[in-house]
Amino acid sequence: MSKLVIRGGVPLRGEVPISGAKNSALALMVAAALAKGETVLRNVPHDRDVSTMAGILRDLGVRVYFSEPHVLHVDGTDLKSDTAPYEPVRQMRASFYVAGLLLARLGRAKVPLPGGCQLGSRPVDFHLRGFEALGAKVNIEYGYMQAEAPRLAGATYFVNRASVGATVNVLMAATLAEGTTVLENAAKEPEIVDLAVLLNSMGARIRGAGTDVIRIDGVKELHPGEHWVIPDRIEAGTYMMAAGITGGDLTLRNVELNHLRTPVVKLAEMGLHVEPQEGGGGTGSEAGATGLVRVWTDPGAKRLRAIDVETAPYPGFPTDLQPPLVALLSLANGTSVVRETIFDRFRFVDELRRMGADIRVERDTAIIRGVAKLTGAPVEAMDLRAGAALVLAALAAEGQTEISGVELIDRGYEDLETKLRHVGAQVLRITEKNGYGNRTIDPSPAVDPVPLLPARKSTANKGADHGDGYENEGGYQHAEPGGQ
Ligand code: EPZ
Repeated sequence: MSKLVIRGGVPLRGEVPISGAKNSALALMVAAALAKGETVLRNVPHDRDVSTMAGILRDLGVRVYFSEPHVLHVDGTDLKSDTAPYEPVRQMRASFYVAGLLLARLGRAKVPLPGGCQLGSRPVDFHLRGFEALGAKVNIEYGYMQAEAPRLAGATYFVNRASVGATVNVLMAATLAEGTTVLENAAKEPEIVDLAVLLNSMGARIRGAGTDVIRIDGVKELHPGEHWVIPDRIEAGTYMMAAGITGGDLTLRNVELNHLRTPVVKLAEMGLHVEPQEGGGGTGSEAGATGLVRVWTDPGAKRLRAIDVETAPYPGFPTDLQPPLVALLSLANGTSVVRETIFDRFRFVDELRRMGADIRVERDTAIIRGVAKLTGAPVEAMDLRAGAALVLAALAAEGQTEISGVELIDRGYEDLETKLRHVGAQVLRITEKNGYGNRTIDPSPAVDPVPLLPARKSTANKGADHGDGYENEGGYQHAEPGGQ
C-alpha cells in the first residue's frame, strides 16, 4: 500500500512526455495474439493494467515480453488454453477482450465475467450479444461466460450505446469469422481506429473504423505486425488540467491534439491556452513523431472561468476526463454544471469536499461552485480517474495532501510522480514500510529522484520463461478491485 504526499501551490513549468494510450495498448495486446508469430508494439505504457493483461495472456499460452522500455512483443503461436484466469479478469474489465481472441482463435472461450466496480454496474451484455450475432452459443455458468462456435460467421450487429469494449471484442472476433460483419453504431474512439490499423497491418480487412459503421471482411488467418501505440489522450488532458489548476506553463510532448478537440475547446472556454508548438515533428500518432503542445494560463489571470460540460462518447467530452475536470472547476470563478452520461462516477466528490470544494451532486449532474482555495487533507483514490482528480486538487491546495489508493492511479498513469516532479511538483510516494502518516515534504528541495523508467529486475529474479527484465511483468498481482 502506498500513498502520495503532495505539497500544493507550485505552478508547474517544463516539459512532460505523454505515454502511449493505456486503453489502446490493452486492446492491441490481445489483438496481437490473434496471429501466430511475434507482433511488436511500440510506445506501450508500462503501467499496472498493461502488466495485468500481460499476465493474463501468458496464462493462456501467449508469449509477452518487453524487449526494451515501451517495446512489447506478443506472440500468439502457443495460445492453447481456452480458459482465462478468474481473479485478474474479474478485477480488470478490459481483460474480457480475451473472450473475442479465444473465440476467434480456438472456437471456444471460458472467461470470468468482469465484476462491478467503482464506476457503477458495468455489464458485458453488449459483448455477449455480439458474439451470439456471430453465431456463438453463449452461456453464463459458475461466474464464467462460456462461448462456443467452431467458426464464427459474419453478421450485422448494432452496438448498443456505441460501447467501446463491445466494439473492440466483436471487431477482434469478426476478423477471423467467415464472411462479412457490419458493426453499426460502433464506437468511434481513437483507440478503435488504432486497433483497426494494427489488425489491418496483420492482414485483416477492416474499413470504416472511426465512423459508426465498421465493415470487417473475415480472413482465414492473420500474420504478425508492427505498430506504434497512439498517445494517451486522457493522460494528456490530465496534464493540461494540471497546468491550469496550478497556474503553470507546461509543454506536453507526444500529444495528438486531434484526439482532444472537445476537451481543448472546453479548456479554452475556461481561459486556458492550449497551442501546438513548432518543432513537434508532426502529430503524435505518426510512428516515432512527437506532437508538442504548450498549455498555460495568462500570467495576470487569477482564476479560470466556470463552464458547463456534458460527457459523451467520442468525439464528445470523455468521461475519463470528467473527474479531473471537476477538480479544475472546483477552483474556477463561478458555478459550473457537469453532467455525466456514461458512468456513475461522482463518488470522488466527497473526497474533494474534504479539501474544501463546494460541489453538490444531483443524480447524473454535479454543480460546482468555484472556491478561492482548496486545502490539503487525507483523501482516498476510489478509481483511476478519481485519483487523478485528487492529484490535481492536491497540486493546487494549500498545505499537504495525502492520497491513499495510489495503486489505482498506477493502473493508468505511467511514472506519475516522476513526471510531476520534473516540472516542479512536490510529490513523494511513501509506502507502509516507510512508516507512512509521519512523513512531511520539505517544501524546498526536490524529493529523491526516481528514474523515468521502471526498475529492472536483477538477473537472479528474472522470469525464467519470459526474461522481460521488469519488476511488474510476472503476472497480475497488482490488479486492484474496481478495474477500468
Ligand atoms: C472503455 O470502457 C474504457 N476502458 C473506459 O476507460 C472509458 O471510460 C469507457 O470506454 C468510455 O469511454 C477501456 O478502454 C479499457 P463502454 P468500456 O463499453 O469499454 C454500458 C479509464 O478510466 N455497457 O463504452 O467498459 C456501460 O456500463 C476507463 O481508463 C453496458 O451496459 O465502456 C456504459 O454505461 C474507465 N453493457 C456504456 O455502456 C455492455 O456490455 C459505455 O461503456 C457494455 C457497456
